[in-house]
Amino acid sequence: MLGKAQGLPADQVFLDLEDAVAPLAKPEARKNIVAALNDGDWAGKTRVVRVNDLTTPWTYRDVIEVVEGAGDNLDCIMLPKVQSAAQIEWLDLTLTQIEKTIGLEVGRIGIEAQIENAAGLVNVDAIAAASRRIETIIFGPADFMASINMRSLVVGGLIPGYPGDPYHYILMRILMAARMHDLQAIDGPFLQIRDVEAFREVAGRSAALGFDGKWVLHPGQIEAANEVYSPAQDDYDHAELILDAYDHATSEEGGRLGAVMLGDEMIDEASRKMALVIAAKGRAAGM
Ligand code: GLV
Ligand code: MG
Repeated sequence: MLGKAQGLPADQVFLDLEDAVAPLAKPEARKNIVAALNDGDWAGKTRVVRVNDLTTPWTYRDVIEVVEGAGDNLDCIMLPKVQSAAQIEWLDLTLTQIEKTIGLEVGRIGIEAQIENAAGLVNVDAIAAASRRIETIIFGPADFMASINMRSLVVGGLIPGYPGDPYHYILMRILMAARMHDLQAIDGPFLQIRDVEAFREVAGRSAALGFDGKWVLHPGQIEAANEVYSPAQDDYDHAELILDAYDHATSEEGGRLGAVMLGDEMIDEASRKMALVIAAKGRAAGM
């Protein structure tokens, strides 16, 4: 799996020390991860390691072994089940100590924070503001559902008997904290790995709100994820059209106008900003 992941068209790969690793296998997994980071070819991918959460006895050793062993070949540490700003501050200080000790630039290693329980969600603003290292806030739906006693076993799926989207509030809460601090908002895993249509459906909901991406657990989910979080071609083309039209309208030749018609649609400065969001995502995806 570690070998195969290097050739897949995902933007980021994270190597797990947490819930996909049995307690007795943690020491060996740390060694495998250090070797995979140092010996693998991860070119073009953000390289991340998920350590164990701070209620376990493993976190400090995870961070020390992985960063001391492969800090040069690592972009971020992912901290799961974050509950408070203090937990991020602990990781920030620990990373600073290790960076100073092994001669890395201080601040080079970023932090990704998983929000997976009520405490994490209630404190998400403070968590997002707790360190300049934070790059990403991630929704962890499986742990979250368990921690709030949600009555469902299908991670990310709608719940029979509830007429709305049970994740809407959680996703929006995370998105607001992320946007306030200019961080990425990332949706978590979908476990029915053979049901790509269902993956698209779940991903489509967070993508529609403005999330930047979603985890994939299997190579079969990558293409769908890349598609769902990129704009549709029509929307991208329309966004570029709005930008061109508004750019012209506001120019000297265009009459220095602040609001103009584009077909049947009135566009103004706010339209330009909305169009820029879609256009930027499309350009980043090479459209
Ligand atoms: C991911 O870690 C999740 O709990 O969904
Ligand atoms: Mg989890």
